[in-house]
Amino acid sequence: MPSPLRILTVIGARPQIIKAAAMSRAIAGIGRDRMVETLLHTGQHYDANMSQVFFDELGIPPADINLNTGSGAHGAMTARMIEGIEQVLLRREHDVMLLYGDTNSTLAGAVAAAKLHVPVAHVEAGLRSFDKRMPEEINRIVCDHCSTWLFCTTDTAVANLRNEGFSTSFDSPPTADRPHVVQCGDVMYDNSLHFAALASERSSILEGLGLSANGFVLVTVHRDHNTDDAVRLNAIFRALLDLHRRHALDLVLPVHPRTRKMMELLLEPELRNAIMDSPRFHLVPPAGFLDMIALESNARLVITDSGGVQKEAYFFGKPCVILRPGTEWVELVERDQALLADADPERIASGADRYLRDGVTACPPLFGDGHAAERICHELLRTW
Ligand code: UD1
Ligand code: UDP
Repeated sequence: MPSPLRILTVIGARPQIIKAAAMSRAIAGIGRDRMVETLLHTGQHYDANMSQVFFDELGIPPADINLNTGSGAHGAMTARMIEGIEQVLLRREHDVMLLYGDTNSTLAGAVAAAKLHVPVAHVEAGLRSFDKRMPEEINRIVCDHCSTWLFCTTDTAVANLRNEGFSTSFDSPPTADRPHVVQCGDVMYDNSLHFAALASERSSILEGLGLSANGFVLVTVHRDHNTDDAVRLNAIFRALLDLHRRHALDLVLPVHPRTRKMMELLLEPELRNAIMDSPRFHLVPPAGFLDMIALESNARLVITDSGGVQKEAYFFGKPCVILRPGTEWVELVERDQALLADADPERIASGADRYLRDGVTACPPLFGDGHAAERICHELLRTW
């Protein structure tokens, strides 16, 4: 029997840990005996409700290595990660580096692996916001251009790569210079399908907060562009408070630690007090994934600047107001299942009002068939 493919997976931020659940499941399933995974956690996210909760809930094996990088400026954080990942790769115990998404942990993994000629498999390749003020846009571009396999979720992602000169027809095995672009679906769609039943069985967040199905709006805000800018942050929270009052709807906001910190620093005191005094404006700690699925699947409307939450709103047939000027998930906006409101109070109000009144029509599957992770495993085994 050939020796198994030895994969080093780098995770670090919340969405990557959740994505890793889908791949770890597939590696333990169809990859059994043929793939061995080492999980390296950079430690970019470290609070229990930003990291450990997902290992506990989603059956992800404990990380084999934790670099405990912690928070910091982009350069310092990424440099510490690259150094730590390089030490692991220098042991020459791994055949492939597996990376997710677009965080600083992704960037660090890509740079460390490419310099040591360890082939990189990038899951969620090809996404572009065409806005280089977003740190994630830089991370995605660098990672894609260091990769040997680019696993795309959508036709748009494949087209973006083609526009950057990637070939989508191959007559030789993949290399860093002649990478393979493969559309495989979305591992987060796999996860949403896989964990939906468990969420309805185990999550008690709706009862805990006194929420009724379709009787509340779910909100997440964490992009630095929104949180670290006083004008934008105040505009968003003023629009949320206004919406909450006009519709007498519960509003639930699991607060990212960055946002918690910046709300204390930047929100005008009168606005902060008004929010705190509204018992049905629920500011809660970051949610576990099962609670998050329960919230998304029962919300009447989702308002978010998160990439992952936009898409999960679609998976669960919910309209979404996006608190950004653009999105990588253009399909959602083209179908009018989501709209771009940026941090503009009028657009947030008019978009939310319309969706609360009309809802959205059917949300046909755009993100694969729930077997993206297995397809990625097959492709890696076939071509490495
Ligand atoms: C990071 C990613 C972003 C992703 C998000 C997912 C980058 C550049 N950004 O943004 O793409 O959407 O994760 O949630 O990689 N903090 C804590 N505890 C934690 C983690 C963070 O208190 O466990 C606080 C710290 O004050 C830290 C701040 O949050 O400085 C920001 O954390 P960081 O990892 O730098 O970026 P995110 O905003 O989380
Ligand atoms: N998520 C979660 N708890 C929360 C907020 C988000 O479990 O309180 C999940 C969400 O369901 C999605 C992922 O985290 O699967 C998205 O991560 P995040 O919004 O932090 O980052 P992004 O997707 O914007 O990079």
